[in-house]
Amino acid sequence: VGNRSIVTEFTLNAFPVLLEIRIFLFVVLLLTYTLTATGNIMIISLIWTVSHLQTPMYFFLSNLSFLDILYTTVVSPKLLACLLREEKTISFAGCITQTYFYFFLGTVEFILLAIMSFDRYVAICNPLRYTLIMNSRVSLLLVLGCWGGACLSVMTPTIIVTRLPYCRKEINHFFCDIAPLLQVACIDTRPIEKINFFLSALVILSSLAFTAGSYSYIISTILRIPSVQGRQKAFSTCASHITLVSIAYGTNIFVYVRPSQKFSLDFDKVAAVLITVVVPLLNPFIYSLRNEKVKEGLREKMNRFVSLTLRKT
Ligand SMILES: *[C@@H]1O[C@H](CO)[C@@H](O)[C@H](O)[C@H]1NC(C)=O
Repeated sequence: VGNRSIVTEFTLNAFPVLLEIRIFLFVVLLLTYTLTATGNIMIISLIWTVSHLQTPMYFFLSNLSFLDILYTTVVSPKLLACLLREEKTISFAGCITQTYFYFFLGTVEFILLAIMSFDRYVAICNPLRYTLIMNSRVSLLLVLGCWGGACLSVMTPTIIVTRLPYCRKEINHFFCDIAPLLQVACIDTRPIEKINFFLSALVILSSLAFTAGSYSYIISTILRIPSVQGRQKAFSTCASHITLVSIAYGTNIFVYVRPSQKFSLDFDKVAAVLITVVVPLLNPFIYSLRNEKVKEGLREKMNRFVSLTLRKT
């Protein structure tokens, strides 16, 4: 298709012009990125070292933290570099790689959230058989299916985008993504936009339906628990997950599930940056602040750390 050799690199053209604003954004973003990486690495190492956190639910959470680190790493370093330097070019290969991983990891996130809701469903609606159903083999299979399925399903749209003819190199966005790339292609991209819309809607809405279905069973089961204490205890095991789900769907649905994939508004660009930079930061905090077991594990580690340092001095 067409003459791809015209464009060998793209420029990311959404950055503010004023140096002061760029430096300010650089500092904020660098802090956010560092915090995100630290917070998520902390959650992962906590889950892998504290014995009472070694259950499927926390392994899924560890996967989510790992995903969050990758997700911001796909976007943040390039974003930081572009904010500081005048030069805002990204190579064709780099751009396609970023597009692929952004789409891939976003897809993994939704499937993973759905798997986590299924895990909560089994734990609350079928507690006696939980260890039987959610054994380590099943949870490993679910996770592998999630990463593998996402990896394959975003292959086609990415390959299509790779083979398009491009006539302009100015991308009106902070990072490479399918929608802004389609805007600079020379051909009519409406059919591709339709495929893309269909895929995004399929992933986001079907995982949303699955999650909502699990939660309707969970809530009806919780409401049938006679004691208030029992109800609270059951609810507390899924409170952090509900928060994550609301944030993920609340932010993504408006940007990605709509027929026209054109990024026309500045709002979309800012929303996309919030999704990639701020949401991965929130996850570890939501879990460490709202989940008793994680808090307990954290306290345990802190105590050991403090007593070790005291002994040394
Ligand atoms: C993801 O979850 C699976 C299944 O529970 C687990 O075996 C794997 O170690 C997890 N990966 C990470 C990075 O936590």
